[in-house]
Amino acid sequence: MYHVLLEQQVALVTGTAAGIGQEIARLFAEHGARLVLLDRNAEANQATADSLDPAGKRAIAVHLDVRDRPAIDRVISETIRDWGAIDVLINNAGVYPRQEFLTMTEGQWDEMLDINLKSMFHFQQAVLPHMIGRRRGKIVNISSVTFHLGIPNLVHYVASKGGVIGLTRSLAREVGAHNVHINCITPGAVLVEAEKAVVSDEQVRAFVAQQSLQRRILPIDIARAALFLSSELSDGMTGQTLNVDGGWVMH
Ligand SMILES: NC(=O)c1ccc[n+]([C@@H]2O[C@H](COP(=O)([O-])OP(=O)(O)OC[C@H]3O[C@@H](n4cnc5c(N)ncnc54)[C@H](O)[C@@H]3O)[C@@H](O)[C@H]2O)c1
Repeated sequence: MYHVLLEQQVALVTGTAAGIGQEIARLFAEHGARLVLLDRNAEANQATADSLDPAGKRAIAVHLDVRDRPAIDRVISETIRDWGAIDVLINNAGVYPRQEFLTMTEGQWDEMLDINLKSMFHFQQAVLPHMIGRRRGKIVNISSVTFHLGIPNLVHYVASKGGVIGLTRSLAREVGAHNVHINCITPGAVLVEAEKAVVSDEQVRAFVAQQSLQRRILPIDIARAALFLSSELSDGMTGQTLNVDGGWVMH
């Protein structure tokens, strides 16, 4: 009955050139969604779109930095003009460079908060009038299990991801009466190419050892949770944080 969960629905997904966002795009395409793929890595993002829909009719790549409000306003109004509606927004783009707190510059702090948190202010403020007007919308914000754990050398990152949970909860209360659902996901240590730059194999083994499920969490695990939160399967949920970490943190 629920084989295809997003038939003809329009979804905006950020950070689709790689990793989790790319897998969300792939799974959503499989479930019938029409996709606007947003990333600052234009070439790799176009490759994602081409792999899903070479004709460019059901998946289009847009070169965009999630800190650029005028570009966000533009893509949202053009999507509504060309495709009639926006049903789903996935705020996934994010960065996670390590930096010791005592030597962290204000610029590094601001960059982290601007990309990982302020971008979600921009996207949601830009799309919500449309969703409220239709009395329909699903928004999924990607946070991180590190918020529950606290992690050294990632103070700015963990602060940004805690902000994502706070924003999600408060905004879900503000717009729930308009039938707009806003939830977030806290992924655990997910196997993506980008992790190689920030964690060693030994650290990864230590993460897995702390999980209940003794395997790597994969992008598809997060994509499935995003699909659930974007579809009618989660119609009774808003303001929630879905933890997908192999049973590392239980709360
Ligand atoms: N991989 C993990 O273990 C893990 C765990 C918890 C949370 N997360 C979160 O999941 C999300 C995706 O992470 P990932 O591991 O897939 O990372 P990734 O580096 O593989 O992919 C992130 C994508 O976002 C894009 N991006 C980054 N900054 C951008 C900007 N300013 N504007 C537009 N696009 C931008 C990148 O180009 C890239 O394509 C992030 O929010 C991350 O914090 C990841």
